[in-house]
Amino acid sequence: MLSWDDEVAPAAPAPRQAPPAAPTAFDQFQTRMQTQDVALNPALVTKPVTVSAEDVARRVNAADKRIINGQTDVNQLVPFKYKWAWDKYLAGCANHWMPQEINMQRDIELWKNPNGLSEDERRLVKRNLGFFVTADSLAANNIVLGTYRHITAPECRQYLLRQAFEEAIHTHAYQYIVESLGLDEAEIFNAYNEVESIRDKDQFLIPFIDVLTNPEFKTGTTEADQTLLRSLIVFACLMEGLFFYVGFTQILALGRQNKMMGAAEQYQYILRDESMHCNFGIDLINTIKMENPHLWTAAFREEIKSLFLRAVELEYRYAEDTMPRGVLGLNAPMFKGYLRFIANRRAQQIGLDVLFPQEENPFPWMSEMIDLKKERNFFETRVIEYQTGGALNWE
Ligand SMILES: [Fe+2]
Ligand SMILES: [Fe+2]
Repeated sequence: MLSWDDEVAPAAPAPRQAPPAAPTAFDQFQTRMQTQDVALNPALVTKPVTVSAEDVARRVNAADKRIINGQTDVNQLVPFKYKWAWDKYLAGCANHWMPQEINMQRDIELWKNPNGLSEDERRLVKRNLGFFVTADSLAANNIVLGTYRHITAPECRQYLLRQAFEEAIHTHAYQYIVESLGLDEAEIFNAYNEVESIRDKDQFLIPFIDVLTNPEFKTGTTEADQTLLRSLIVFACLMEGLFFYVGFTQILALGRQNKMMGAAEQYQYILRDESMHCNFGIDLINTIKMENPHLWTAAFREEIKSLFLRAVELEYRYAEDTMPRGVLGLNAPMFKGYLRFIANRRAQQIGLDVLFPQEENPFPWMSEMIDLKKERNFFETRVIEYQTGGALNWE
């Protein structure tokens, strides 16, 4: 029996099926490839990977890895041998930060206020940045164009890649401070050519970088290996481990007096990274020494000692030039003791005797800054410890 609906509404026509689309060029290509796979390589489907005894013999054995002159495949990160390098890589990644995360507003206001800072404080800030704006570019170029290719342990290369990026972040941070404060960029970025105390530090460093970046330089002889080791010591112990410390202390001292807090916070992050770079470099140096004890001769040690003494002298002159008068409760003579104290530590860390007997640290608060776990109340916002996760933890 028909319902009312059937009477008034004719059945809807069946939807028209769209004609099948012609196969696209890609469909045709895919079909052709699949057919060819089966037609040309039917064995691919079931073929097991066969590993010959020769292949097995070629596999990387952790015990065969060496920091320099190694013969193992540098493309294979594992099996790990130098776990300390991998752990530092992980810690470096966990400490990731970017300069723009830090608010520079109060620094800008203070800098623009004619009564905000004394002339001595302004000179200190400008000379300080004058060294750092190019120092970290030197560091990055040294890693990427020099050190990296001479290191044959992939765990260490992995850390060096991370370190190179951190150096780029540091250069960015210094540039960001210069830009925020509206400083004369030409003056600051050319200071390493134009300000004697800065130029002398860089000229001391550059030959040790140039030798590693020279494409003709290769390790493999005692002399060449000592050349590499000497450059690594200069870079880790004297550049990152000593030449940065007058500058770090000055800006952190400003921060302790509630001045240039944004810049001080940037420097605090940089100091955290640099402490890690310095520690990595020292581990690298000591492992090379352990693997190649014939490099550590009495003559070589004497030579290193004289480089340390020269570096202390240059950094002290930089302290005098940045602080011709006492400023912020600091003065150049206080740095004489501090630099001797640091040089002693660096010497001991690589197995040399102390260079200056009985030096005390005149800035114990700097040690607290370096070991940020102890850091508590200097800044409004502060990093409290090395992180294990990806994000920074602010108190
Ligand atoms: Fe750096
Ligand atoms: Fe560094």
